[in-house]
Amino acid sequence: MARLVTTQLLLLLAWVIAWGAQPTASRARTELLDVCMDAKHHKEKPSPEDKLHEQCSPWKKKACCSTNTSQEAHKDISYLYRFNWDHCGKMEPACKRHFIQDTCLYECSPNLGPWIQQVDQSWRKERVLDVPLCKEDCQRWWEDCRTSHTCKSNWHKGWNWTSGFNQCPVGAACHPFHFYFPTPAALCEEIWSHSYKASNYSRGSGRCIQMWFDPAQGNPNEEVARFYAEAMSEAALHRAWPLLPSLVPLLLFLLS
Ligand SMILES: *[C@@H]1O[C@H](CO)[C@@H](O)[C@H](O)[C@H]1NC(C)=O
Ligand SMILES: *[C@@H]1O[C@H](CO)[C@@H](O)[C@H](O)[C@H]1NC(C)=O
Ligand SMILES: *[C@@H]1O[C@H](CO)[C@@H](O)[C@H](O)[C@H]1NC(C)=O
Repeated sequence: MARLVTTQLLLLLAWVIAWGAQPTASRARTELLDVCMDAKHHKEKPSPEDKLHEQCSPWKKKACCSTNTSQEAHKDISYLYRFNWDHCGKMEPACKRHFIQDTCLYECSPNLGPWIQQVDQSWRKERVLDVPLCKEDCQRWWEDCRTSHTCKSNWHKGWNWTSGFNQCPVGAACHPFHFYFPTPAALCEEIWSHSYKASNYSRGSGRCIQMWFDPAQGNPNEEVARFYAEAMSEAALHRAWPLLPSLVPLLLFLLS
């Protein structure tokens, strides 16, 4: 009898810990490192891609994007999303290169696992939320886009797609970027519905994701993903402990 009770208790304990260790209710992911999100163009798993195009080439040792995706990432109204950067006149090249880099990071990075969330969208099953973007990367993006124009602050929704690419909806006037994005954080956070969070950590700190990096020194985002993956699983374990007192009545019942 005592042995049966012990077995039951152990099973229960295992269940409680497993339950508490789930990062969030909406995320079924257990692997946070070296993963690709389940989205429109991502490969299933990261692997080497020696022909990645220009700005995407830093990811060639380990990438979630194919060569084709990396080439398309550099085009206007590409087959990836038919997105028109020039919706308020021509986007300046100095600005556009940040959008290309943002696309490369999104499509190619195998280090975004800690921020992947499941979503109910027709075009993807997973997205990233609150990726801590290094402050210099966000600042530079904002500065280089000051002279370009746009008509919206959330570029995920609300466009007129009737012609096959996004156009400004009626009533959304074109203004310089800073009208819709008064600060660097407003740009990085709002443009893709909080895919990024503006971090106050700096490039090289190991605590924020770099959109730009020199692959000669390796990919700095590997360490960042490891750091946050560990922090998240520790937080999850701590969430399991408060559940233990609720086991006491059960324990008493089983022993009675
Ligand atoms: C990438 O693949 C798509 C779909 O197969 C194709 O339409 C497109 O032309 C390709 N792009 C390049 C640059 O090869
Ligand atoms: C959408 O764009 C098309 C073509 O440019 C235009 O004819 C139509 O009026 C626009 N519709 C809305 C709701 O903005
Ligand atoms: C970032 O900001 C938070 C609060 O705004 C502060 O507690 C933290 O020390 C800052 N970190 C760095 C690296 O500046």
